[in-house]
Amino acid sequence: MVKNGKKQVADTVSIGTWKRFRKNTGVTPKYFQAFCKSLGLNWEEIVDNIQSESTTMPVSLDLENSPVFPYFYGRNQQLESSKKWILQDKCNLIFLLGRGGIGKTLFSIRLIKEIQNNFDYVIWRSLETSPTIEYILEDSIKFFSQQQETTLPSTLDEKITKLINYFAFSRCLLILDNAESILHSGCHIGKYREGYESYGYLFQRIAQSSHQSCLLITSRENQKQLI
Ligand SMILES: Nc1ncnc2c1ncn2[C@@H]1O[C@H](COP(=O)(O)OP(=O)(O)OP(=O)(O)O)[C@@H](O)[C@H]1O
Ligand SMILES: [Mg+2]
Repeated sequence: MVKNGKKQVADTVSIGTWKRFRKNTGVTPKYFQAFCKSLGLNWEEIVDNIQSESTTMPVSLDLENSPVFPYFYGRNQQLESSKKWILQDKCNLIFLLGRGGIGKTLFSIRLIKEIQNNFDYVIWRSLETSPTIEYILEDSIKFFSQQQETTLPSTLDEKITKLINYFAFSRCLLILDNAESILHSGCHIGKYREGYESYGYLFQRIAQSSHQSCLLITSRENQKQLI
């Protein structure tokens, strides 16, 4: 319906309703989507409506073994720029590059603290131990589905599609720290290590898909060919 030049939502489902529904029933976003459809509610309008409402708390935060630091100084300009890219410009994919020890990890944790209330899910993972892409996808999908997705599709493509579906349905912030661990250094700089090439495909799909989430990657290398 269009009224006064603005799209009006006739049958709305507020973010509060959705959160109460999820808390009481534990259903997945996919189930909720099907449920809304069964009631004849326009799903796209509901998503628009939820997006336009503000929320004060992230539904879920998982920072795994991220370092805890008692202090953080400066970096105000970089924090403001990153916040603008993520919240205003809605960048799907951001690379944070810099030499070792410059403060990328601390910066990413600080950034989470400042913007977490704008997301439904925030997950921080380190790639330092070079986890496989399958592990990262399964871990993230389980988190975004609140452990409801136990049987995941077998192909990599389908797993990535599933992740992107969650990225489209909810406001997710996924941070992958230490991406240099999956990359060659030295003369092969900028190339993925053998067995890790699919990460490039994941980054490309996330950058090119339409969704409301963000993947932030930190790396030591000065990459030109990450996607
Ligand atoms: N903004 C900051 N305020 C205070 N201390 C900082 C800040 N940034 C970095 N440091 C100091 O520098 C150290 C290294 O920072 P950090 O681990 O974030 O670097 P990094 O770029 O992630 O390094 P690496 O590439 O090795 O992962 C921190 O333990 C901290 O002592
Ligand atoms: Mg680091």
